[in-house]
Amino acid sequence: MSGTREIAEAIAARIRASSHEVDVLDAADVRSVLPYKAVIVGSALYAGRWRPEAVKLLQRNADLLARRPVWLFHSGPLGTEQVPQRAPRKVRDLAARIGADEPKTFGGRLTPQTAVGFFAKKMANGPMAGDYRDWDEIELWAYEIAQQLVSAR
Ligand SMILES: Cc1cc2nc3c(=O)[nH]c(=O)nc-3n(C[C@H](O)[C@H](O)[C@H](O)COP(=O)(O)O)c2cc1C
Repeated sequence: MSGTREIAEAIAARIRASSHEVDVLDAADVRSVLPYKAVIVGSALYAGRWRPEAVKLLQRNADLLARRPVWLFHSGPLGTEQVPQRAPRKVRDLAARIGADEPKTFGGRLTPQTAVGFFAKKMANGPMAGDYRDWDEIELWAYEIAQQLVSAR
Protein backbone atom coordinates (compact mmCIF):
# COMPACT_ATOMS: atom_id res chain seq x y z
CA MET A 1 0.00 0.00 0.00
CA SER A 2 1.34 3.46 -0.83
CA GLY A 3 2.54 5.62 2.01
CA THR A 4 -0.13 8.21 1.29
CA ARG A 5 -2.90 5.62 1.17
CA GLU A 6 -1.83 4.45 4.64
CA ILE A 7 -2.12 8.04 5.89
CA ALA A 8 -5.61 8.21 4.36
CA GLU A 9 -6.58 4.97 6.12
CA ALA A 10 -5.32 6.33 9.45
CA ILE A 11 -7.30 9.55 8.97
CA ALA A 12 -10.39 7.52 8.08
CA ALA A 13 -10.01 5.30 11.14
CA ARG A 14 -9.80 8.32 13.43
CA ILE A 15 -12.87 9.97 11.90
CA ARG A 16 -14.84 6.70 12.02
CA ALA A 17 -14.01 6.53 15.72
CA SER A 18 -16.04 9.74 16.03
CA SER A 19 -19.07 7.92 14.54
CA HIS A 20 -18.82 9.24 10.98
CA GLU A 21 -19.04 7.03 7.90
CA VAL A 22 -15.91 7.31 5.78
CA ASP A 23 -14.91 5.85 2.41
CA VAL A 24 -11.27 5.75 1.34
CA LEU A 25 -10.83 5.81 -2.42
CA ASP A 26 -8.00 6.20 -4.88
CA ALA A 27 -8.40 9.60 -6.53
CA ALA A 28 -8.59 7.92 -9.94
CA ASP A 29 -11.62 5.90 -8.78
CA VAL A 30 -13.67 8.91 -7.64
CA ARG A 31 -16.31 9.66 -10.26
CA SER A 32 -17.98 12.41 -8.28
CA VAL A 33 -17.89 13.76 -4.74
CA LEU A 34 -21.65 14.35 -4.93
CA PRO A 35 -22.56 11.60 -2.40
CA TYR A 36 -20.20 13.04 0.24
CA LYS A 37 -20.89 15.72 2.83
CA ALA A 38 -17.22 16.46 3.36
CA VAL A 39 -14.04 15.51 1.51
CA ILE A 40 -10.37 15.08 2.34
CA VAL A 41 -7.98 14.94 -0.60
CA GLY A 42 -4.34 13.96 -0.26
CA SER A 43 -1.41 13.32 -2.55
CA ALA A 44 2.19 12.32 -2.37
CA LEU A 45 4.67 14.96 -3.50
CA TYR A 46 6.91 14.02 -6.40
CA ALA A 47 9.37 16.64 -7.65
CA GLY A 48 7.26 19.30 -5.97
CA ARG A 49 4.11 18.20 -7.78
CA TRP A 50 0.89 16.54 -6.73
CA ARG A 51 -0.09 13.26 -8.33
CA PRO A 52 -2.06 14.04 -11.52
CA GLU A 53 -5.03 11.89 -10.41
CA ALA A 54 -5.45 13.99 -7.27
CA VAL A 55 -5.21 17.26 -9.21
CA LYS A 56 -7.77 15.97 -11.72
CA LEU A 57 -10.12 15.06 -8.90
CA LEU A 58 -9.94 18.64 -7.59
CA GLN A 59 -10.41 20.08 -11.08
CA ARG A 60 -13.32 17.86 -12.09
CA ASN A 61 -15.15 18.36 -8.81
CA ALA A 62 -14.22 21.97 -8.05
CA ASP A 63 -17.79 23.27 -8.07
CA LEU A 64 -19.11 20.49 -5.85
CA LEU A 65 -16.12 20.77 -3.53
CA ALA A 66 -16.70 24.52 -3.18
CA ARG A 67 -20.04 23.66 -1.53
CA ARG A 68 -18.56 21.20 0.95
CA PRO A 69 -16.01 21.36 3.73
CA VAL A 70 -12.73 20.19 2.19
CA TRP A 71 -9.36 19.45 3.73
CA LEU A 72 -6.16 18.88 1.79
CA PHE A 73 -2.92 17.18 2.76
CA HIS A 74 0.25 16.06 1.10
CA SER A 75 2.94 13.69 2.17
CA GLY A 76 6.56 13.83 1.13
CA PRO A 77 9.32 15.35 3.21
CA LEU A 78 11.97 12.81 4.11
CA GLY A 79 14.30 13.39 7.00
CA THR A 80 13.93 14.31 10.64
CA GLU A 81 13.78 18.06 9.95
CA GLN A 82 10.16 18.30 8.86
CA VAL A 83 9.40 21.50 6.97
CA PRO A 84 5.88 22.24 5.70
CA GLN A 85 5.87 22.06 1.91
CA ARG A 86 4.14 24.66 -0.23
CA ALA A 87 1.70 23.06 -2.63
CA PRO A 88 2.32 23.59 -6.34
CA ARG A 89 0.67 26.66 -7.84
CA LYS A 90 -2.08 24.68 -9.55
CA VAL A 91 -3.13 23.06 -6.27
CA ARG A 92 -2.99 26.36 -4.37
CA ASP A 93 -5.23 27.96 -6.99
CA LEU A 94 -7.66 25.04 -6.76
CA ALA A 95 -7.65 25.24 -2.96
CA ALA A 96 -8.53 28.93 -3.17
CA ARG A 97 -11.31 28.23 -5.67
CA ILE A 98 -12.72 25.47 -3.47
CA GLY A 99 -12.35 27.51 -0.30
CA ALA A 100 -10.01 25.03 1.37
CA ASP A 101 -6.90 25.81 3.37
CA GLU A 102 -3.57 25.06 1.75
CA PRO A 103 -2.54 21.43 2.25
CA LYS A 104 -1.28 20.17 5.56
CA THR A 105 2.17 18.59 5.18
CA PHE A 106 2.91 15.15 6.56
CA GLY A 107 6.27 13.43 6.38
CA GLY A 108 6.81 10.80 3.73
CA ARG A 109 8.05 7.26 3.53
CA LEU A 110 10.70 5.90 1.23
CA THR A 111 12.01 2.45 2.02
CA PRO A 112 13.67 -0.25 -0.10
CA GLN A 113 10.74 -2.60 0.66
CA THR A 114 8.11 -0.20 -0.67
CA ALA A 115 9.85 1.92 -3.32
CA VAL A 116 8.40 1.64 -6.82
CA GLY A 117 10.48 2.56 -9.87
CA PHE A 118 14.14 3.04 -10.65
CA PHE A 119 14.69 6.46 -9.01
CA ALA A 120 12.65 5.64 -5.95
CA LYS A 121 14.56 2.40 -5.40
CA LYS A 122 17.87 4.22 -5.79
CA MET A 123 16.80 6.96 -3.36
CA ALA A 124 15.42 4.35 -0.97
CA ASN A 125 18.92 3.04 -0.48
CA GLY A 126 20.32 6.52 0.13
CA PRO A 127 20.65 8.70 3.22
CA MET A 128 17.11 10.11 3.10
CA ALA A 129 15.43 6.71 3.25
CA GLY A 130 13.05 6.01 6.07
CA ASP A 131 9.53 6.42 7.33
CA TYR A 132 8.94 9.99 8.52
CA ARG A 133 5.17 9.85 8.89
CA ASP A 134 4.19 11.09 12.35
CA TRP A 135 1.11 9.06 13.27
CA ASP A 136 0.31 11.22 16.31
CA GLU A 137 0.33 14.32 14.14
CA ILE A 138 -1.86 12.60 11.54
CA GLU A 139 -4.30 11.40 14.18
CA LEU A 140 -4.53 14.85 15.75
CA TRP A 141 -5.27 16.46 12.38
CA ALA A 142 -7.98 13.87 11.72
CA TYR A 143 -9.40 14.36 15.20
CA GLU A 144 -9.73 18.10 14.58
CA ILE A 145 -11.59 17.39 11.35
CA ALA A 146 -13.92 14.98 13.14
CA GLN A 147 -14.68 17.68 15.71
CA GLN A 148 -15.49 20.19 12.98
CA LEU A 149 -17.79 17.66 11.31
CA VAL A 150 -19.66 17.22 14.58
CA SER A 151 -20.18 20.95 15.01
CA ALA A 152 -21.28 21.26 11.35
CA ARG A 153 -24.05 18.64 11.79
C1 LIG B 1 11.57 10.46 -7.30
C2 LIG B 1 11.02 11.04 -6.01
C3 LIG B 1 10.73 12.39 -5.92
C4 LIG B 1 10.23 12.94 -4.72
N1 LIG B 1 9.98 14.29 -4.65
C5 LIG B 1 9.55 14.83 -3.48
C6 LIG B 1 9.30 16.24 -3.35
O1 LIG B 1 9.44 17.01 -4.28
N2 LIG B 1 8.91 16.73 -2.15
C7 LIG B 1 8.73 15.91 -1.08
O2 LIG B 1 8.39 16.41 -0.01
N3 LIG B 1 8.92 14.57 -1.17
C8 LIG B 1 9.32 14.01 -2.33
N4 LIG B 1 9.51 12.65 -2.44
C9 LIG B 1 9.19 11.77 -1.30
C10 LIG B 1 7.82 11.12 -1.47
O3 LIG B 1 6.82 12.11 -1.54
C11 LIG B 1 7.55 10.19 -0.27
O4 LIG B 1 8.35 9.06 -0.44
C12 LIG B 1 6.09 9.82 -0.16
O5 LIG B 1 5.86 9.23 1.12
C13 LIG B 1 5.63 8.86 -1.25
O6 LIG B 1 4.27 8.54 -1.07
P1 LIG B 1 3.56 7.32 -1.80
O7 LIG B 1 4.13 6.06 -1.20
O8 LIG B 1 2.12 7.49 -1.48
O9 LIG B 1 3.86 7.45 -3.26
C14 LIG B 1 10.00 12.10 -3.61
C15 LIG B 1 10.27 10.72 -3.73
C16 LIG B 1 10.76 10.18 -4.91
C17 LIG B 1 11.03 8.71 -4.99
